[in-house]
Amino acid sequence: MLRILITTGLLLAAFSATAAEPAAHAADPDKVSRGRYVALIGSCNDCHTNGFAPSGGKVPESQWLTGSNLGFSGPWGTTYPSNLRTKIGAMDLATWKAYARTLTTRPPMPYWALNEMSDADLEALWSFVNSLGPAGEAVPAGLPPGQEPAGPVVRFPAPPPPESAGKP
Ligand code: HEC
Repeated sequence: MLRILITTGLLLAAFSATAAEPAAHAADPDKVSRGRYVALIGSCNDCHTNGFAPSGGKVPESQWLTGSNLGFSGPWGTTYPSNLRTKIGAMDLATWKAYARTLTTRPPMPYWALNEMSDADLEALWSFVNSLGPAGEAVPAGLPPGQEPAGPVVRFPAPPPPESAGKP
């Protein structure tokens, strides 16, 4: 009896090890194409892919979501859209989902949209990014307010003072 239990235990352990393997990375074509759609409609490339918006989206897919060294400067300092190919690629699915649900960032990343993404869309996005594989470099580190960035940035004006809110 003990032997059977041990054997069953070993089998279960072997099974769960296989299930947790990057076999999950083996691309399901439906999820990958849904993830491509989510990335495109979610406008992730507009910021996270160099040159995407200025070229009207004509950047080869192999370069999608590799991050951007065009910074965004405003009252929050300067931020750079991260390399999502390496960032998401380094996470297993469960980690990615938990991370995406609770992520907060500095502007102009619309993290609230990611927080509300459905489970199926988060999984699809993860499958798509993993199907492309890791690529690109790390983006420059963000800067605190008052520190001048060295490279190109999009500048956001300071928000209007509260008393002028809503007035033309
Ligand atoms: C308007 C520009 C913009 C858009 C659109 C945008 N992002 Fe971002 N994103 C950023 C910036 C800038 C940062 C870095 C924020 C910071 O450093 O605090 C960022 C950070 C992130 C991070 C955190 C990465 C890290 O290193 O921790 C994730 C994940 C992310 N974005 C995913 C997405 C996804 C997925 C989409 C599409 C649904 C998207 N972003 C759309 C600009 C954008």
